[in-house]
Amino acid sequence: MSLHAYALTAPLQDALRPAGIQAVHLGNLWNLTLGLCGLVFAAVLGACLYALWRAPRGDAGTAPDLRSLAQPERRVWRAIAWATAASTLGLLGLLAADVWTSRALARLPLADAVNIELTGHQWWWEARYLDADPAREFMTANELHIPVGRPVLVTLRADDVIHTLWIPNLQGKKDMIPGRTATITLRADRAGSYRGQCAEFCGVEHALMALLVEAEPNAAYEAWAARQREAAPAPRDALAQRGRAVFVNGNCARCHTVAGTDAQGRMGPDLSHLASRRTIGAGMFPNKRGHLAGWIADPQSLKPGVYMPPNALAPDDLQALLAYLETLK
Ligand code: CUA
Repeated sequence: MSLHAYALTAPLQDALRPAGIQAVHLGNLWNLTLGLCGLVFAAVLGACLYALWRAPRGDAGTAPDLRSLAQPERRVWRAIAWATAASTLGLLGLLAADVWTSRALARLPLADAVNIELTGHQWWWEARYLDADPAREFMTANELHIPVGRPVLVTLRADDVIHTLWIPNLQGKKDMIPGRTATITLRADRAGSYRGQCAEFCGVEHALMALLVEAEPNAAYEAWAARQREAAPAPRDALAQRGRAVFVNGNCARCHTVAGTDAQGRMGPDLSHLASRRTIGAGMFPNKRGHLAGWIADPQSLKPGVYMPPNALAPDDLQALLAYLETLK
């Protein structure tokens, strides 16, 4: 599937189709702003058309009409005063709606919240699901799962440059700034797949820094989280076992972690449960064997500038590696 074809079938990324209470508040503010500004636009256009329609027509021989210079223009001043008052009232109304929306966004109850620490990297997302019990914490990348109806508190960090988290169906934007910590809260009220996008230019692959958010019923979320907490099962068949050796003893382990193995690299995404994810390359390609093979061999040609180096593996080693990665459910 080409990138373009994939984009057409990609999950929802649409601020006008809110799937959570925070996005509903923002959607209402947008609708109010659009409606009011639309009215002002129509009124200004109407006034222009009226002025054109009633303007006296003349030609080159018409003498200039200078009467208005000596006349008091009470009607004009009244109209300007009314228009100024209406504009001020409209702007104050929008300001009030804006403040009200900010307060509504901040009021999301956080009881029983899911805590996620999300770090922006050039050009992928690192997620750590936090827990009061450190043994229950786990890492993943580029794909969040969240339970429908439960609040999510996301702590935002950046590793290298400024990124911005934006999941339009669920919330507005928030910057991720190196050396600083910010938080954002959201709640999905409708199950579905929502596409998040980095919204701050962060380098050559900024546009291809996507985050998939799967909102699912609480039981499905808890089952997913329980699987993520476990180390990947040791591969049973010989090919996958050989693949694990390629992974752990070769280049992969320098940058990637697979929990339960000696591969503990932190430069790139945690791959402990790679096979459970829907996409690779931060939302760029479906997680299929062919894409994965191309990605491992030559990531630069698929996502130019990405920090992952090419890997000239022997064909047998590549097949073994792919077989192993497919066991990381
Ligand atoms: Cu990260 Cu733009």
